[in-house]
Amino acid sequence: MKKILVTGGCGYIGAHTIVDLLENGFQVISVDNNSRSKPNILDGVEKITGIKVKNYTVDLCVFDDTHAVFQENPDIAGIIHFAAYKAVGESVEKPLMYFENNLLSLINIMRCAETFQVPHFVFSSSCTVYGNPDSIPVTEETITKEAESPYGSTKQMGEHIVRQTVSSNKVQSILLRYFNPVGAHPSNMIGEIPLGRPANLVPAITQTAIGKLPQMQVFGNDYPTRDGSCLRDFIHVCDIAHAHTLALNYLIEKRNASNCEVFNLGTGNGYTVLEVIDAFEKVSGEKLNYQIGGRRTGDVIAIYANNEKARQVLGWNPKYDLQDMMRTAWNWEKKLKQEEDIFKRTDARLN
Ligand code: WQD
Repeated sequence: MKKILVTGGCGYIGAHTIVDLLENGFQVISVDNNSRSKPNILDGVEKITGIKVKNYTVDLCVFDDTHAVFQENPDIAGIIHFAAYKAVGESVEKPLMYFENNLLSLINIMRCAETFQVPHFVFSSSCTVYGNPDSIPVTEETITKEAESPYGSTKQMGEHIVRQTVSSNKVQSILLRYFNPVGAHPSNMIGEIPLGRPANLVPAITQTAIGKLPQMQVFGNDYPTRDGSCLRDFIHVCDIAHAHTLALNYLIEKRNASNCEVFNLGTGNGYTVLEVIDAFEKVSGEKLNYQIGGRRTGDVIAIYANNEKARQVLGWNPKYDLQDMMRTAWNWEKKLKQEEDIFKRTDARLN
C-alpha cells in the first residue's frame, strides 16, 4: 500500500482528496499547520472511510520541521501539495505574506522530495494562471497572461518552480489547474468551512440562504457575458479529488509522457453568477436575498475549461452536475447550522 503525503490535508480539497485516495487503496498522512483549517475535518474522513489519518501540525515554511516528517516517514511514495493561502482579495492586500507562505512552503517540500527521493509530486495549481483569457474555453496550451492577483502569481511561479526543478531531478510531477471547486461530499460528513466572511461565490450563497449573512452582492452585471455577470467553470470537489488519484496512478504506472504535465480540471461548461444563483434557488427552494453591486477588482470576466486532455489521458470523467453541486453545498450548510444550534443549546444549558 503506497503512502502518500498530502499537504493541506485538513483543507477543503485536501480532505476530499484524502477520502478518494483511501477509497482507492492508498495510505495517507497529512501535513497541515491548521492556520486556515481545523484538524477535526479528519474525523469526518474517518466517518466516511473508517480510517484515522494522522496529521502532522507542521508549518511547511519551517524547513527543519518539514524535513522531520520525511525522516519519520522514509516510505513516502508520493506528495500532493495543496497547502497554500488562496483568498484572491486577501492576496491583493498582503502580497508578501502570500509570496512568502506559498512559495517557501513549496520550495521546502520540493527540497525534501529531492532529498528523500520521493518519485511522484502533484501540484495544486489553478485556472487563475490564465489571467483574463483572450478566448475560451482554455486548453493547457492557452498562453498564461499576467495573473490578476498575487495569489494567481504564486500559482504561476509555483508551476515554474516545479517545472524547472523536476527537469534536474528524478521527481515525476503533474500540475493540476482547478477551475472553481464547489460542493461537499455526498455523505455530508465533510465540506467547505470558510474562515470568516466567505470570499467565494457558493459559500456566500449558502450562508446568505441559511441566514448567516443578511444579503449577498453580485459583483457586477455589466460584463460582456450572456447576462452581464461573470462566467466560471464550477466543478464538484469530489471530481477534483478523484482527478488526484488518477494523476498519481498515471505517474506510478509510468504512463506520463514527460516529467511535468499540466491538466485542466473543469467540467467544460461555463455558468454565470446569476445562473448559479438561479440553480441554487431551484434546488433549495429558497429565494436568495442578493443585490447587484459593483465589480470586484481582480475578477476575470469569463473562463471555462477545455478538459479533453484530462478525460483522454487520465481517464477523468467528472460526474457531478451544477444541481449536485448546489444540493451538496446546501446540505452541508444546513448541517453546519444544525451543529451550531446544538452547540449553542448545550452552551446555554451549561451556563
Ligand atoms: C466567482 C465569481 C465573483 C462572491 C476562485 C478561487 C481561486 C481559484 C479560482 C482555486 C466572481 C462572484 C463571488 C460573492 C459574487 N480556485 N462573486 N459575490 O474569483 O473565480 O476564484 O476560483 O485555486 O482560489 O478564489 O471564485 O467564488 O471568489 O468568484 O458575485 O459574494 O463569483 O465576482 O465573478 P474566483 P469566487
